[in-house]
Amino acid sequence: MNFNEPLTVITLDEVDSTNALLKRDLPLYLDRLPCFVLARKQTSGRGRDQRIWDSPDGGFYGTLAQRLPVPAALSHGLLSLLAGLGVRDVMTEWLGKERLDLKWPNDLLCRGKKLAGVLVENQVKGSDWLSLWGIGINLSRQQTPFPEPLQDRAISLSGLGVEPPAPLILANRLHQRFVHWLDLWQRGEEGPIMSALEEASRSFQQNPITVHDRGGRVSGIFEGIDRQGALRLRMDSGEIRTCYCGEIENRD
Ligand code: BTN
Repeated sequence: MNFNEPLTVITLDEVDSTNALLKRDLPLYLDRLPCFVLARKQTSGRGRDQRIWDSPDGGFYGTLAQRLPVPAALSHGLLSLLAGLGVRDVMTEWLGKERLDLKWPNDLLCRGKKLAGVLVENQVKGSDWLSLWGIGINLSRQQTPFPEPLQDRAISLSGLGVEPPAPLILANRLHQRFVHWLDLWQRGEEGPIMSALEEASRSFQQNPITVHDRGGRVSGIFEGIDRQGALRLRMDSGEIRTCYCGEIENRD
């Protein structure tokens, strides 16, 4: 499959959520894929696990709808990591690699605070396998500061002293980097993907962490990410537990 088809970018003033819009109205976009729908603001921005994604004016809120060659559900974990790698690549252009950490599964952190998040949702329409990659990037919070609970946990480009690029520029750069990772994935070139994941998540490697998921929480040592995109957690017993979903936090 050629992922590098010309990109359509549609910018809306306000929408509930770019992911929700595409899920609702996907048939309207099928002849324009790949298509990045951007919104200047969202009234019901969503994060993973039904969390709210605060989305006032001044941020990047966009969802890329694209076809996939295989049932997306089979590779959901890895696909969502590829999206995280792409966001990291693009933010590297403004911040440099050293300042960015990819926190499994796909939060982008700077100075330990969240700069960007990814919400991947897959859809089947007839014989098409479609993947929606929702990307939120905190560009500027000068007009609307982060709400209280996020103030210690989130950071924006402008808060880091960087002039934010225009969302349209970001959408095109993100698409280029997503194409890069998807091409490698499609060709089965796991080496560069696994090395990039290791490098991007180096600040967590061998750290004591706790993984929270719907089933509860479990602690151990971060032993990296496997070929399916799952996290490898070394338990006190020495046994390696494979975690397919959840959120991690450092244990000090
Ligand atoms: C997360 O970190 O939990 C994922 C956040 C994803 C937010 C983006 S903003 C654009 C798209 N529309 C949404 O409602 N969510 C994603």
